[in-house]
Amino acid sequence: MHVLVTGGAGYVGTLLVNRLIDRGDEVTVLDSLLHKSPSLLQHFINPKFRFVEGDVRDADNVKDALEGTDAVVHLAAIVGAPGCEAEPRLAEEVNHHAVELLISLAGSDRALIYASTGSNYGAVDGLCTEETPLNPLSHYGVTKTAGELAMIESGQAICYRFATAFGLSPRMRLDLLINDFTYQAVKNRQLVVYENWARRTFIHVRDMAESFIFALDNYDRMKGEVFNVGSDDMNATKKEVAELINGKVGGFLWFADIGSDPDKRDYEVSYEKISGYGFSTSVGLEAGIDELIDGYKMIRISNPFSNMA
Ligand SMILES: NC(=O)c1ccc[n+]([C@@H]2O[C@H](COP(=O)([O-])OP(=O)(O)OC[C@H]3O[C@@H](n4cnc5c(N)ncnc54)[C@H](O)[C@@H]3O)[C@@H](O)[C@H]2O)c1
Repeated sequence: MHVLVTGGAGYVGTLLVNRLIDRGDEVTVLDSLLHKSPSLLQHFINPKFRFVEGDVRDADNVKDALEGTDAVVHLAAIVGAPGCEAEPRLAEEVNHHAVELLISLAGSDRALIYASTGSNYGAVDGLCTEETPLNPLSHYGVTKTAGELAMIESGQAICYRFATAFGLSPRMRLDLLINDFTYQAVKNRQLVVYENWARRTFIHVRDMAESFIFALDNYDRMKGEVFNVGSDDMNATKKEVAELINGKVGGFLWFADIGSDPDKRDYEVSYEKISGYGFSTSVGLEAGIDELIDGYKMIRISNPFSNMA
């Protein structure tokens, strides 16, 4: 199979590309290298890998990248609420309009897999299923929801609403909750947590990559459907996560009302639908956090406000 991965140089994409190459697929990546990440360097010696440096908003770049491909995993996005609030028009163009462009250029024969997000739900009372109405609150959620609706209307996409990712990847993201908490605990020996009662849901980044492999292999029976992707075992409050990390690392743990989540995520999510199709995650919270604690030895970002070396 020849798979186009848009945003393939990103946090999730890098691990997905590794996985696709390992199993012998041909891979094209379209990425604008927004974060200047060299995470795919190792693949340039592989004749089955092609990199198109370009923009998903540019029709010529998209046509070039689609050449010869059978399926598209669409990851390219302005991710997270802060990034989208900082550049709202860019977020609308990339997260919404570029999705419509991709659908129109992909034609009706290609499999489309879309990386959507649990942020689309907004604040939810009770158990959140795929039938729960979408009520995005942040600009990130609003633009990702618009992209998702376009994908659903195309009739040829599988839409995945992911839990919050965590874990090591060659293109690291330190803004994600568990990655951030663990980083603060390891590097600063203190962790300050707001809204500690909020119930969140998590998925390891390798399991996200694996879920795309599952979608590619099961496209015909999953096509046209929306799935929450995560694990029923990985719903936890921020307090529980912080205490788990703190128990491993030590240092100070403070709970303080110093902020709030723009997406107002405080919900328990059901993953019954995707598990009914046969997909389950394999990396638990503890194992993923242990890897982070180890892996952060290789990440050194100087903190001008820290008096610790
Ligand atoms: N990480 C999570 O917790 C999470 C959760 C739910 C959904 N998602 C979704 O998964 C996808 C991947 O997220 P990620 O965590 O890997 O983010 P990331 O920022 O690491 O990766 C996004 C990639 O898209 C590229 N990109 C951005 N704008 C582009 C443009 N105009 N043209 C071409 N490339 C562009 C960036 O260079 C980057 O490599 C996103 O669609 C995100 O909304 C992520």
